[in-house]
Amino acid sequence: MFSRFERYKSGDDPAAEVAQIISSLKTSLRAMFPNKDEPLAIRMDKKTERVRTLEDIRKELGDCRRCPLHRSRTNIVFGAGNPKARLMFVGEGPGEEEDRRGEPFVGKAGQLLTRMIQAIGLQRKDVYITNVVKSRPPGNRNPLPQEIEACKPFLIMQIESIRPGVICALGKVAAQSILETDASISALRGRFQEFRGIPVMPTFHPAYLLRYPQSKGLAWKDLQAVQAELRKPG
Ligand code: URA
Repeated sequence: MFSRFERYKSGDDPAAEVAQIISSLKTSLRAMFPNKDEPLAIRMDKKTERVRTLEDIRKELGDCRRCPLHRSRTNIVFGAGNPKARLMFVGEGPGEEEDRRGEPFVGKAGQLLTRMIQAIGLQRKDVYITNVVKSRPPGNRNPLPQEIEACKPFLIMQIESIRPGVICALGKVAAQSILETDASISALRGRFQEFRGIPVMPTFHPAYLLRYPQSKGLAWKDLQAVQAELRKPG
């Protein structure tokens, strides 16, 4: 059960601390000098001049061939859940089961993610779940930088369409891609950062937690912080 994760305690790691400070500085600088027109431009459909819906974005993605991942995929895995979710989870990329079914996080890691969501009093239908890349990297390898870049406009449009109260970045690839940093997940996790004014909590990927259950305590702390943020008034 996820509630058992509380028992674990974090250790001190000076290198992680320094990486965290650098990453926070980068985030603050971006927040101080934002490109003010960009979020709006990406939210609005130029033709209709209305905020893009998830259906608009899915249509725009089409039968995507913007990177080589299309050659080996079975289905595009766009995302699933509540288009008005207050909490959005972003993973790395579809695995075998997700590729087969066209749905995010439906394999073993997905079952743990479902328990993590339930541990903070929510259901999958309450949240929105997507990935950095929408096509499965062959053999479950990490997506390559050019694959991430090709898919990024779609992730940003999904975030801008939903405008969740909190984004939970699952694992290194999601956290690094959203926060534009190369800090490790150990350095990034556990503290809120921001993406275009939205609090982002990086935490361990559920697949990592299946391999290293001793890290579940830290992930549980991160989720409790997410729950507290969502409960803040306003
Ligand atoms: N891992 C991910 O990052 N995403 C999925 O959808 C499934 C497994």
